Parts: sequence; structure tokens; C-alpha cells
Amino acid sequence: MIETAAQFFTSPRLRGEVGLHALACNPGEGDSPPSKSGQSPPHPDPLPASGEREKKSRSFVVAVFVGLIAILNSSAATTAEIPLQDRRSGYEFMGRETRAMQDDDTANPGMLSVLEGEALWNRKVGEAGKSCADCHGDASASMKGVAARYPAYSPARGRPLDLEQRINSCRADQQKATPLAQESKDLLALTAYVARQSHGMPVEIATDERTRPFLDAGRDIFQRRQGQLNLACANCHDDNWNGRLAGAPITQAQPTGYPLYRLEWQSLGSLQRRLRNCLIGMRAEPYAYGAPEFVDLELYLMWRSRGLPVEAPAVRP
Ligand code: HEC
Ligand code: HEC
Repeated sequence: MIETAAQFFTSPRLRGEVGLHALACNPGEGDSPPSKSGQSPPHPDPLPASGEREKKSRSFVVAVFVGLIAILNSSAATTAEIPLQDRRSGYEFMGRETRAMQDDDTANPGMLSVLEGEALWNRKVGEAGKSCADCHGDASASMKGVAARYPAYSPARGRPLDLEQRINSCRADQQKATPLAQESKDLLALTAYVARQSHGMPVEIATDERTRPFLDAGRDIFQRRQGQLNLACANCHDDNWNGRLAGAPITQAQPTGYPLYRLEWQSLGSLQRRLRNCLIGMRAEPYAYGAPEFVDLELYLMWRSRGLPVEAPAVRP
């Protein structure tokens, strides 16, 4: 097992940016495309710029290495899922200041995207010349609780859609407009606006026979060892959520805050962007944005956090 990690750190290819930074689930390679409108952070940069990150000292490598060995050694077999009463949002692992930032709407940078989303909600676009509001009216009524039950099965598509896909399908089919690019500023803003209408509501994912197979597929991805480090998501997030990796808490991977503002990203980002970070950290090939595997994984993760309150737009380190 240790050999795997040792190989990881001695391979010349991996000594570069790709592996080391991504191990702590940093943005790394394969990250989202920059948004067209060049979102500028509303707050001064509280973190070292990425250039400084490249210069991270050897101690960082050692910390990751030690953390990894601990994980590899402690997870001979995947343990059971986290009991319902022990589940905790990533919020509870954060420092006081980051929590305060999330809690205060005037300090939460994600709220700017919610405001942008509200403007987009009311804007007429596409050949149909219709706004979201023209059909759905007041979002605080029509979209209340929607994000808490997504991804949800779409009979038209024969599989679950996540919220971004659902919004984009209205954009294409109802507004007759070009779908918004994944991870674009506008799609994130609309998603944040819709998700905000479920703030505080418990996550509740359908588990009927149509949804089940996709949920099971998502669980399988979560529990399967993959990538050059031969790790499963569950090795960190089910078995070691009390632990730390390179100084950062590992957390339970509860996806209740997405889209969220990550200080590391200096922007809002989707759950898929976060999942890509972790897959790259595992030295596994990340799925493409919008891939069915991602939606299955999102579905499983949301089901796994059933009952926890929706926090979107959350703030994370
Ligand atoms: C021309 C009317 C129309 C427009 C414009 C429209 N939608 Fe919809 N939308 C619908 C209909 C009809 C449904 C329900 C379809 C179905 O039965 O699944 C729906 C469903 C949805 C859902 C899923 C709700 C649920 O309960 O699962 C979301 C989210 C949504 N729309 C968001 C949007 C957003 C955001 C916009 C603007 C970008 C938008 N829609 C524009 C007609 C529209
Ligand atoms: C080597 C350990 C490790 C593995 C394996 C791993 N992650 Fe992570 N993951 C982390 C760490 C550490 C963080 C938190 C980093 C931070 O916030 O600074 C994290 C964060 C997350 C979050 C964000 C939680 C929040 O509060 O927003 C999600 C979701 C997540 N991981 C899902 C996954 C999935 C799905 C997989 C498998 C594809 C996976 N992770 C594999 C270490 C891991």
C-alpha cells in the first residue's frame, strides 16, 4: 500500500502541480473553465495566490504523504455508511470566521451570485422571448424546496437530472435559448438563486424504483477504489471524516451547500467542480462536466445527506 503512495511522490510526472496540490482536493488541473465575464472576488484575497502555492514547501508533501499512509493503512475494507445521527455538514468543520461569513448574508460572497441569479430569472431570453418568471412566477413560492430534492428523475430523459441540467433544459426547451455552459457564471447564478429558495429545508431525495438504479450506481462509484492511489471516496469521507489531510479537515462530503463560494477558488463553483478536485486528488480520471456518472454520484451524495438542511450558497475554505 505504501508503495503506491511512494510511487506517487517519486514519479517525475507527479511531482508537478497535478498530484500534490490536488491531493487536498485543491482546484488543480482539469478545473472549470474561467467564466466569460471574469468574475472578480468581492473580498480581498485571504489566501496565498496560486503562484505561492506552487512553492509549497517540502513539509506540505510530507504532511500529505503521512496523511495518505494513515488513510491507506486504516482502510483495509470500506466500513459502513455514516449513521444518520452522526452526519455533519462541512460547515461544522470550518473555523469560526468562515462560518460567520456563510451566516451573514452581507458577508457571504455567494449572495452576490444569488442576486445576479434573480436578475437572470426575470430576464426574457431566447426565441420564445420568455423569462423564467413568466412561467414560474415568484421563485420564493414556485422554487421552494426544489433544490432539496435534486437530482430528480426526469421521465423525458429517462434518468435523473441535477439542478443545473434541469435549469438548462428549461432554457433550451422552454425559452428556446442556447443552454448555458457548465460552470459558467450565469448557470451558477441561476442555480444559486433557485437553490437559495430551499435554504434551511431538509434534503429529501426520492428513492422510488426509477431513481434507485442511479442511486446505486452513485454509491458504487463512491465506494469503489479507483485512480493511481487506489482510494475510494469512502476511504476518506466515510472512514476518516474525523481525520485531517495536509492540515485540512477531511469532512463527510455532505453536498448541502452547492453551488458554493470556495475561498480557494475565489468564486462560486458547482458540486461537480468539487468532485473533480477530489477525483484529481485520487489520481483518477475526472468525468466530464454533466457526465451521467457525476449526476449519479451527486444523487447518492444528496441521498446520503437526507435530512440535513440545504445551505446554498455555502462558503467553504
Ligand atoms: C415557457 C415556460 C417556462 C420557462 C420560460 C421556464 N420554465 Fe422551468 N419549467 C416549465 C415547466 C412546464 C416545468 C415542468 C416540466 C415538468 O413537468 O417536469 C418546468 C420545470 C422547472 C424546474 C423543475 C421544477 C421541479 O419541481 O422539479 C426548474 C428548476 C425550472 N423549471 C427552472 C426554470 C428556470 C431557472 C427557468 C429560466 C432560466 C425556467 N425554468 C424557464 C416551464 C418553463
Ligand atoms: C484522500 C482523501 C479524499 C478522497 C479519496 C476524496 N476526498 Fe473529497 N475531500 C477531501 C478533503 C480533504 C476535502 C475538504 C478539503 C477542503 O475543504 O479544504 C474534501 C471535500 C469533498 C467535498 C466537499 C464537502 C463540502 O462540505 O462542501 C465533497 C462533496 C467530496 N469531497 C466528495 C468526494 C467524492 C465523491 C470522492 C470520490 C470521488 C472524494 N471526495 C474523494 C478528501 C478526499
